[in-house]
Formats: sequence, C-alpha cells, structure tokens
Amino acid sequence: MKKTISFSYNSYNSPSEMTYSDQQLIAQAESSLTKAYAIYSGFHVGASVLLENGKIMSANNQENMAFPSSLCAERVLMYYCKANFPELEIKKIAVTVKSVHGSISEPISPCGSCRQVMLEYEQNQNNNIQVLLKADQGKVYELESINDLLPLSFKTDVLKRY
Ligand code: THU
Repeated sequence: MKKTISFSYNSYNSPSEMTYSDQQLIAQAESSLTKAYAIYSGFHVGASVLLENGKIMSANNQENMAFPSSLCAERVLMYYCKANFPELEIKKIAVTVKSVHGSISEPISPCGSCRQVMLEYEQNQNNNIQVLLKADQGKVYELESINDLLPLSFKTDVLKRY
C-alpha cells in the first residue's frame, strides 16, 4: 500500500508582506545573527522565539575549533528557553542566515538534530510551534508546525518518562 505524507507552507518575497509581529520576530533573529560566533564556517545564523507570555528570546550559532562541539542557533536558543522558562510554551520560531561567502537566496532549513530537539518540545506542549525560515535576501517560508519538518519521526513507548 502506498502512503503519502504532505504539508503545505506559505512563501513570502519579503517580511514586509507579513504581520508586524512576525516582522519583529524576524528582526530580532537578524539582530542576533550579527553576534554569532561562526569564525570557522562564516555562516551566521540567528534564531528568535516568541514565548506564550509575549516575550521574544534570541540566540545564534556558537562554533568551536573542536568542530563537533559547535551548536546551531536553534538549539542554543531552545535549550536556553527550556532551561530558564520550562513552563512557557513556544509559539513561534524565526531563523535567519547570512554568510561571509555570499548572498543566500533560499531560506535556511534547520538541520536534523535541531528538528529532533524542536519536535520533542513541540510534542510536550499543547500547541504547534510555527516556523519562519528566512533567506538573507528576503524570502521567507512559513510552516505551521515543527512536525512538518520531521515526518515519520522517532517515537517509542519503551523510553519511559520519570
Ligand atoms: N547552523 C545553524 O546554526 N542552524 C542551522 O539551521 C544550520 C546550520 C550553523 C551550524 C554551524 O555553525 C554553521 O551553521 C555551518 O553549518
């Protein structure tokens, strides 16, 4: 039997086509990427989340000369939020990028590890986390859920929650 998984998303040519609140979230992510510690890749990523209390938190990628010790902007931010505001739901995440190697026309797409981490937090709360992915040239993709980024995700009842 053939099965199909599909999802739809919105594409905008520029944040100016979006709501003021989304523009603010993206602007915070763009401001954060200027502080990224990305001296090895030159790939500066900024992320910001809107929490359920209306506060916006931001972070960026942090690299290390021992390359596997580096961490993406999304996970730096998610872990900070959950370490400090574990009770607050995350409503939305915006991710932006700029590279020293040239202009990027397509929106950034989170890596597999970040998808896995964000998905578990989404599953722990009652509402989806909306996703805004921006290219440095302006194009933005808007997805309704982290789940759209990771279909057929790892799930098991064997791992108990204590
Ligand atoms: N990176 C992120 O911060 N987020 C992503 O979604 C993709 C990649 C970072 C990791 C590394 O510092 C640099 O971008 C190049 O991979």
